[in-house]
Amino acid sequence: MPEGSIEVAVELDMSLGESPVWSVARQTLYWADINNGHVYTWRPQEGGAPARIELGEKVGCVAIDAAGLVAATASGILRLPESGEPERLADNPEWEQAGYGNRFNDGRCDATGRLWAGTIDADESSPSAALYCLDRGELTPRLTGIGISNGLAFSPDRRWLYHTDSLTRRILRYPFDLDSGTLGEGETWVDLERLGLPGVPDGAAVDSEGCYWSALYDGGRIVRFSPEGEPVAEHEVPCPHPTMVAFGGPDLRTLYITTATQHLDAEGKARWPQAGSLLQMRTGGEGLAEPGFCQA
Ligand code: BGC
Ligand code: CA
Repeated sequence: MPEGSIEVAVELDMSLGESPVWSVARQTLYWADINNGHVYTWRPQEGGAPARIELGEKVGCVAIDAAGLVAATASGILRLPESGEPERLADNPEWEQAGYGNRFNDGRCDATGRLWAGTIDADESSPSAALYCLDRGELTPRLTGIGISNGLAFSPDRRWLYHTDSLTRRILRYPFDLDSGTLGEGETWVDLERLGLPGVPDGAAVDSEGCYWSALYDGGRIVRFSPEGEPVAEHEVPCPHPTMVAFGGPDLRTLYITTATQHLDAEGKARWPQAGSLLQMRTGGEGLAEPGFCQA
């Protein structure tokens, strides 16, 4: 595969593919189809089809855990061991018993193993959601007044936490203290409006040079932003709704891209046959190993 060209890695018909995460130790890629409540597991070197777990509820994101995975779902945060029963680590405070409310959405672990995961307003329109942190069994809101929590990532020196409320079309960065897990005052770091970029900022990954690769949902592209927040490269994706990216493969130079079909009608699906699949692109840049969940 030539560098920079995008192709299908795994052909799928996902509604809302999301949260790709690569385990270096297991040489395995995990990701979710949020709307269908599916979690996928795939070892590219082995070829073959991915394995699929059905959670029976929407699943916003997954992270690596020593025993398997953790998942932030509609109802809460679950540990999903490779063998054995799921274990509930926290309830989602925005999820009503009646099965309605704000589900969990994008998230990832920081370098000490805390899980940061945000929620999404049920109607994707008002600022009723929040960004939470699960730290040694306690789930606390860290940012409130959010519409769609997305794009969570950390700079390689761990001094910045990146986050977007997709509804605002802006990516903010917050001074981050890894030891205490506290955030300073946020500042606008990227403004798609000002830059004339299309779509909304969705999920992201940071590379070893500290550049932030953002999937522009409804913008049909992945944009690489420098640590100063300047767009330095753009990669068009063969569908309008890329959702998130993750570096993986033995050399951490394959960018995996999840995609969605949820906003495409029959005509759109026919026009963009690769929508709903897991895509891949070889890159010049190298990714960072993703830290796992750790509550020690
Ligand atoms: C959400 C979707 C939303 C998209 C774009 C995703 O993280 O899960 O529901 O449409 O972001 O904002
Ligand atoms: Ca997302």
